[in-house]
Amino acid sequence: MKLCKTVAELRAEIALAKADGQSIGLVPTMGALHEGHGSLIAAARKENELVVVSVFVNPTQFGLGEDLDAYPRTLEADCVLATKMGADIVFAPTPKEMYPSEDMTWVEVTGEITKVLCGRSRPIHFRGVTTVVSKLFNLAQPDRAYFGQKDAQQVQVLQRMVKDLFFNVQLRIMPIVREADGLAKSSRNAYLSAEERAAGLVLSQSLQHAAQLFDQGERNSAKLVAATQALIAAEPMSDIDYVEMYELPELTPVTGTMRGACLLAVAVRFGTTRLIDNIVLEGE
Ligand code: PAF
Repeated sequence: MKLCKTVAELRAEIALAKADGQSIGLVPTMGALHEGHGSLIAAARKENELVVVSVFVNPTQFGLGEDLDAYPRTLEADCVLATKMGADIVFAPTPKEMYPSEDMTWVEVTGEITKVLCGRSRPIHFRGVTTVVSKLFNLAQPDRAYFGQKDAQQVQVLQRMVKDLFFNVQLRIMPIVREADGLAKSSRNAYLSAEERAAGLVLSQSLQHAAQLFDQGERNSAKLVAATQALIAAEPMSDIDYVEMYELPELTPVTGTMRGACLLAVAVRFGTTRLIDNIVLEGE
């Protein structure tokens, strides 16, 4: 595995691969890699000749008072896991390398898709994500890029960006990877105390409960949201940011009876840690 820390180094590697006609898979990450990221790297390994994993804690997607400084930075361990899962290149630039000047170009998807759910409490978040992912696409020139369904809104926003800006890349979305007890894998799980972690299980449990109600025929969105919300609210350590349902792919509000595929998404604080989780409810 080759570690590239500069744009010039990555560009040189990509130029060689392109000259050789190799297909390129990109796995954008913020590091603190876990099995969720591992599944993305493994999928990229299967489908591409060159696999690039970026490890960059992107400052522009963190708001004031969020966990930018505390976010775990574990590059050595990340390189070990990325290599084990089949990465050829780890791109780990500094913030100055990615954002050389304070005056800069933003890439922003506008509209409700970035305003609902996480966009409400994190108003600048998706602009930071789309800006950095555009930069990474331009640098790595991937044929395919790999993202996790856990960040369901991010996935929809990026699909929209790729469509609107005619990026010549296929987005490959991988299922949520969970701990044995159901907790969705996340780099932020490391912040949780034992009690908070146990309380956090209510997220996957409440979503599973909604899925069961859906399987039994419930199609009223308000009832499914209310059932999920009630279970989470019953957990004393939970502080709900949102429990909401939107129709895919544009995240349009669902009122009354569900029709197409719908995203049921939750964001809940346990202590100072905000966890997200979701399921897609899709009829036959
Ligand atoms: O999902 C993430 O880890 C980040 O939002 C991403 C896509 C790597 C952009 O910084």
